[in-house]
Amino acid sequence: MAIRQIRKWGDSILTKQAKEITEMNGRISALIDDMLETMYEADGVGLAAPQVGVLKRVVVIDVSEEADQPIVLINPVILETSGEQTGGEGCLSVPGKVGTVTRPNYVKVRAKNRELQEFELEGTELLARAICHELDHLEGILYVEKVEGELHDARMEMEEE
Ligand code: NI
Repeated sequence: MAIRQIRKWGDSILTKQAKEITEMNGRISALIDDMLETMYEADGVGLAAPQVGVLKRVVVIDVSEEADQPIVLINPVILETSGEQTGGEGCLSVPGKVGTVTRPNYVKVRAKNRELQEFELEGTELLARAICHELDHLEGILYVEKVEGELHDARMEMEEE
């Protein structure tokens, strides 16, 4: 496993649509391992392949307190959303910043696991937010496009709270 370089806001790869994964191989498997390691090392709750420069439809998420419940979504598709939550959001590609984004409060997604078996996952609150945020990355969309008001400095935001 290896830490990969996280592409930053302004890098054109972050605006491109990612492609479906049609077969599992050593390269994709290594990509997933590296994405998990890179996300944990950066203290993130999610990371999408385009953020490490790979235009494939794979995201990793871990919203658990202990950072020990990794979720891998390959070719994810949102099946259902409901409700609404408005709150602060950040992105490893936009370091040091947070902004207010409204997302569904519930999301149901269909994806494939590392064995390319289909499964469904439901999430609420932070998990729902993370799923929406990461799936946006696969469409070349950054949360900064959805921010209500302005981006804030993350440290200032914490001091205010
Ligand atoms: Ni992000």
